[in-house]
Amino acid sequence: RPRVLSGIQPTAASFHLGNYLGALRQWVALQETHDAFYFIADLHAITVEQDPKVLRHNTRVSAAQLLALGLDPDRSTLFVQSQVPEHAQLSWLMQCLTGFGEASRMTQFKDKSARQESQVGVGLFTYPIMQAADILLYQAHYVPVGEDQRQHLELTRDLATRFNSRYGKTFRLPEPYIVKDTAKIFDLQDPTSKMSKSVPAGVVELLEDPKRSAKKIRSAVTDTGREIVYDPADKAGVSNLLVIYSALTGRTVDALVEDYAGKGYGDLKKDLGEVFTEFVTPVQESVAAYLADPAELDKILARSAERAREVAGKTLARAYDKMGFLPTG
Ligand code: TYM
Repeated sequence: RPRVLSGIQPTAASFHLGNYLGALRQWVALQETHDAFYFIADLHAITVEQDPKVLRHNTRVSAAQLLALGLDPDRSTLFVQSQVPEHAQLSWLMQCLTGFGEASRMTQFKDKSARQESQVGVGLFTYPIMQAADILLYQAHYVPVGEDQRQHLELTRDLATRFNSRYGKTFRLPEPYIVKDTAKIFDLQDPTSKMSKSVPAGVVELLEDPKRSAKKIRSAVTDTGREIVYDPADKAGVSNLLVIYSALTGRTVDALVEDYAGKGYGDLKKDLGEVFTEFVTPVQESVAAYLADPAELDKILARSAERAREVAGKTLARAYDKMGFLPTG
């Protein structure tokens, strides 16, 4: 079975619809056909200041959401990044291989550091390098992510190529697995920028009261005009709603456009609010059930971390050896 690996940060109290449609939905599907490793990127989360209590809580809430969305710990290895120390270890090797200019070109760093009011840490700068280590440790064939991660995957491939050519073949070159239709879900209030936890105006959260989500959807920014058509360039708001609707129901955008011929934006928004509520209600119930037993949750994660370490440890040992470190006994 080809291997997939991906990660998500536990930086908010809830994942949002962009995370789900852009990435997590693919994670769930791929566990059926691939050897799947998925993790909660708590080491990445501390690149901006975190309250320790909140981080610990959000890590468990993240795990509960992943399970509730359909990840099965018997089919996927579902772990927490900090519990697999090899991530931090390989990350250092990769940092020593990365050019300063190369790291400076990462657009997500430029965006995030420009937005941040407090001091920008070095960890935010080296963040994509650790992401490369995350991926390379597992010799992943594919990395299911949203469009915003594409550049980090290119860096990953560049670093793997560099390591392999300097020290001998060690890492597999991973391919991004990006589903075009839902690769970028847009903010409901600003449909030209991506839905994002760091710009929360029009973000639909999986764990908020669905009534609130329905209200956000009803007040989503749409365009002048009345006709419901898919036209991302000129009708970004309506097109975004159609993409979300289609992804949640499995009906094609074309079929939806036909369904809504002669109807108005209000109808579409009201119906989409209901579709989302129907999707998210059982997910929320399941999250609550998992969170009611944090000890069991921690046990699932610990078991997975052990499995992850077996794979990651082998790759790290090989990389250490290739780089010229002494064997560890
Ligand atoms: P993060 O936590 O920001 O987001 C998790 C996943 O959600 C996708 N995503 C979106 N997809 C479509 N539309 C959107 N509006 C949207 N917003 C977010 C992201 O593309 C991502 O797939 N750097 C990563 C975490 C990470 C990682 C890794 C991923 C760390 N190490 C190794 C893959 C492999 C991040 O911050 O994702």
